[in-house]
Amino acid sequence: MDESRDWGDERDEFRPRRWGRWGCAAAIVTLVVAVVAFFWLERRHEQRQLAQMIDPLGLIHPPQASSDAPRRQFSESRGALGEFLGVDACRDCHAERVESFAETAHFRTSQVATRDNVAGSFERGRDGYQSIDEALRFVMDAEDGLRQTAVVSHEGEAFEYSAPFDVVLGTAKSAQSFLFWRESHLYQLPLSYSAQLDSWTKSPGYPAGLAIFSRAVSSGCLRCHVTFVAEREDAWNSFDRETAIWGISCERCHGPGRDHVAYHQRVGKVGDLAADPIVNLEALPIERQLEICAQCHAGTGEFLRPPFAYRPGEELAGFIRQEPQEEQSLVVHSTNQLARLRLSKCFLSSAAMTCSTCHDVHRHESSDRQLASKKCRQCHQVEDCPPAVRLGSRGRENCIDCHLPTARDQQADLATADAVVYPLMRDHRVAVYPEIAARFESADTSADE
Ligand code: HEC
Ligand code: HEC
Ligand code: HEC
Ligand code: HEC
Ligand code: HEC
Ligand code: HEC
Ligand code: HEC
Repeated sequence: MDESRDWGDERDEFRPRRWGRWGCAAAIVTLVVAVVAFFWLERRHEQRQLAQMIDPLGLIHPPQASSDAPRRQFSESRGALGEFLGVDACRDCHAERVESFAETAHFRTSQVATRDNVAGSFERGRDGYQSIDEALRFVMDAEDGLRQTAVVSHEGEAFEYSAPFDVVLGTAKSAQSFLFWRESHLYQLPLSYSAQLDSWTKSPGYPAGLAIFSRAVSSGCLRCHVTFVAEREDAWNSFDRETAIWGISCERCHGPGRDHVAYHQRVGKVGDLAADPIVNLEALPIERQLEICAQCHAGTGEFLRPPFAYRPGEELAGFIRQEPQEEQSLVVHSTNQLARLRLSKCFLSSAAMTCSTCHDVHRHESSDRQLASKKCRQCHQVEDCPPAVRLGSRGRENCIDCHLPTARDQQADLATADAVVYPLMRDHRVAVYPEIAARFESADTSADE
């Protein structure tokens, strides 16, 4: 190649000479800005129009499949279809365990909606919700399937948009949210349910005074509330609906059941864990055991692999890059039980404490403080705790309210037109909290609720 060749001159041939280099760059930048601004304004306009198609005030925002973001690509296949079987496939050989597990919040955390599992009321008088915007109210009805309808009243006319309750998320321990399908696309309904208020409330994070039906629900949300659902490529909220295994099955903690079931169908009900394809959890290092729960109880983060790709026994760090645990706050959806537990002397001073030390996830134990206190007494004597001794059975049977106090999850705001509540969560940093203890001791009943 001729080293002395003047590349600059050659490029100049393609340049409008009158403007000079910088003029040209400025023109291109201006053009790009103009085009972007044009499309942005167009979209804004289109969104407004879409909203106004339904009501003249533009309060109702219907779903728009066209603007749901494209799905993020990974080098690995999303796979897993057919690997997860759901708990019914375990019943033949683990009948008792399946039966008790069916009562748990894990198993019931997502379900196809029915009148029985939607906690909010469809009764006359309690089936409505008045938004802070006087023109907007919601009504629930169970006449033609379960539906949530936004009604905007303007100059004597009523404008409506309605969507079905298709999926229920949550057991209503503190709340429930509801999802609906539009073809393969999944969205959240604008109203949720708060157990504390026993009423319909605005879904967490929704702007007040609007009826937003356009919030897309991604695998980032579903992966903690369903066992598995096959993801479609066309959008991040698009799924093969009939593949969904609702609820969290045994398999999210023990690994997919397909190979294990096939193995036992072949060899019979013999016990040989070494040859059995099921993951032997108790043989895993403590960190790997903790990470099985940390999939869903240690906050969110950036996916390094597809959302349903993690398998028990693997290192969680290779699957998701989570926020540093010390920086996680006490919020429901950075559910940070693990981060807080790690700060406890109980955890730091025991060689092998896991979540299972205090929780048997195979049965429904929710909010049973007496049972939970028994688990403390596996390692502690009541005599080690002067207040517990003073309080007698009230202290002995409830180590929990003084040592794992509750705090409100500030990110999960559940609001009606005149109240906002935040779910109560246990702080898993087991410690001495003198003020909370003093309040508990001086009160006639337990410190919270
Ligand atoms: C055809 C019978 C059969 C079916 C169906 C079956 N299992 Fe098992 N499973 C067994 C037998 C037998 C054992 C005990 C021997 C062993 O551990 O290999 C076992 C053991 C297990 C263990 C214990 C492993 C350990 O670490 O001790 C788990 C977990 C398990 N099964 C989960 C499941 C799940 C989840 C399903 C449903 C997806 C399922 N099994 C379906 C027969 C079955
Ligand atoms: C796939 C996600 C996922 C995994 C894995 C998981 N959890 Fe959960 N867990 C949840 C969700 C979601 C809820 C909330 C259920 C509800 O109330 O709707 C929950 C609730 C709970 C509760 C409260 C139950 C109640 O009745 O109040 C406990 C305790 C719990 N999990 C412990 C664990 C432990 C221990 C592990 C690991 C052995 C674990 N979880 C693994 C998602 C998960
Ligand atoms: C990182 C896992 C994770 C993600 C992502 C997640 N959740 Fe949860 N969710 C949980 C856990 C764990 C709980 C139980 C709270 C607790 O007690 O720790 C929960 C609780 C809830 C509850 C209250 C359940 C009850 O019985 O009171 C609702 C409703 C809920 N989630 C809805 C959603 C929705 C909607 C999304 C997506 C927009 C979502 N969650 C995303 C893990 C997750
Ligand atoms: C939330 C996570 C989780 C879910 C869901 C779960 N398990 Fe487990 N399982 C564990 C953990 C952790 C252990 C080991 C510690 C223990 O025994 O609690 C275990 C232990 C076991 C064992 C062997 C140890 C023993 O106690 O005999 C069997 C068998 C088992 N599980 C079966 C099941 C079946 C069947 C289901 C569904 C019906 C299921 N598990 C659901 C987490 C889970
Ligand atoms: C597996 C054993 C184990 C279990 C279960 C356990 N702890 Fe501990 N806990 C310990 C150990 C070990 C220490 C550290 C003792 C020491 O430093 O002298 C500790 C320390 C504590 C302390 C002192 C904390 C501090 O910061 O000074 C309190 C309070 C406590 N535990 C309460 C509880 C309560 C309440 C429960 C039940 C919810 C519980 N523990 C369950 C082992 C356990
Ligand atoms: C030292 C005992 C102990 C350990 C270890 C422990 N928990 Fe808990 N956990 C409790 C107690 C006590 C409660 C409150 C009783 C209840 O409401 O069921 C609780 C409640 C919960 C709840 C219900 C939500 C809430 O805030 O009320 C979840 C979810 C939970 N624990 C998850 C976990 C996970 C995940 C781990 C492991 C990282 C873990 N726990 C380890 C004692 C423990
Ligand atoms: C009324 C609230 C309250 C109740 C109930 C309670 N504790 Fe405590 N606990 C405290 C306070 C406050 C301290 C520190 C008091 C002190 O040092 O005199 C303490 C101290 C302790 C310690 C010793 C911590 C250390 O510094 O060594 C342990 C262990 C402990 N409690 C465990 C328990 C267990 C287990 C239960 C249930 C059987 C229980 N506590 C019930 C408030 C309570």
